[in-house]
Amino acid sequence: MAKVALVTGASTGIGRQIAGLLANSGCRVFGTSRSPQGERLDNFEMLPLDVTSDDSVRACLAALLERAGRLDVLVNNAGVELLGGAEEIGVDEAKWIFETNFFGVMRVTSAALPVMRAQQSGCIINISSLAGVGGAPFQGLYVASKHALEGYTESLRYEVKPFGVRVALVEPGFFRSEIGSRKRLPASPIPAYDRARERVLQRWQALYEAGPDPAPVAQTVLAIADGRSARFRHFIGPETFMAEWKYIVPDWLVEQRMRWMFGLDDLLMDTLRLVPLLGTALLIGVAALARLGSRR
Ligand SMILES: NC(=O)c1ccc[n+]([C@@H]2O[C@H](COP(=O)([O-])OP(=O)(O)OC[C@H]3O[C@@H](n4cnc5c(N)ncnc54)[C@H](OP(=O)(O)O)[C@@H]3O)[C@@H](O)[C@H]2O)c1
Repeated sequence: MAKVALVTGASTGIGRQIAGLLANSGCRVFGTSRSPQGERLDNFEMLPLDVTSDDSVRACLAALLERAGRLDVLVNNAGVELLGGAEEIGVDEAKWIFETNFFGVMRVTSAALPVMRAQQSGCIINISSLAGVGGAPFQGLYVASKHALEGYTESLRYEVKPFGVRVALVEPGFFRSEIGSRKRLPASPIPAYDRARERVLQRWQALYEAGPDPAPVAQTVLAIADGRSARFRHFIGPETFMAEWKYIVPDWLVEQRMRWMFGLDDLLMDTLRLVPLLGTALLIGVAALARLGSRR
């Protein structure tokens, strides 16, 4: 029997690729959009879903169960971005991003779990981000929403394991999608942050536009869904090392890397900050050469 999968936010970007690949692999896939343009998209079925609405989530799950009778794989992918300084973001704006990125996942997961518990099987894959494991300038609320998602997901896996439900996190770096063009900016920007925010915004936009195709994210989700990956965390993308190194290298090095990445410093400051790093590398190199020389 073909597995039945639900992929939230499958109209564009990463979700569309995940839904397409799961369908290609033989799953019966239901993708979602707040405003689907027809009953099908690419090779999968579409259902209307707004994850910020309890009624919409209930209706989506009911429609899926009526058509397919079961749910084996849930991919919580729908997400939005808010780019602004922590001081610039109001509580209402913070609630807006949490409604989709955190409470949205919670709503859909809570609606899917009774089905999976009754089946005594299922797989829940939450699309987090490298922002779920580390901070980034002018992305504090996005980062906070993904950190909340990580804590929730990490806890959930203990609770549902006895019911045969597997839980995993996928943490992509930058991949090409529509998220950049759909992002929100602060409603009341503070001029003191204009210069730094503008720099970060430009770098951030460039990283999304130049980002790789999200196919590897979809392949990772497929590997989790079909049981080839039993890991809990899955970092993907060229910036993966930033998450893997976070607890190994000193904090100042992590911070420096982020400052370069988002252009927070001028070229002169960047170069000056390199001095201790290059100096340390040089000392290590000289010491290693001296040791080699003394052995001969
Ligand atoms: N692209 C990246 O580099 C990257 C990196 C790390 C993590 N991520 C994460 O990957 C996920 C997908 O993002 P993406 O980059 O592919 O962005 P995207 O192209 O903008 O896709 C976002 C999807 O979410 C849906 N969506 C937005 N608000 C929704 C709501 N309230 N209810 C239901 N669906 C909603 C959109 O569908 P409709 O507008 O049609 O409803 C769309 O299909 C997000 O969770 C994002 O945080 C992306």
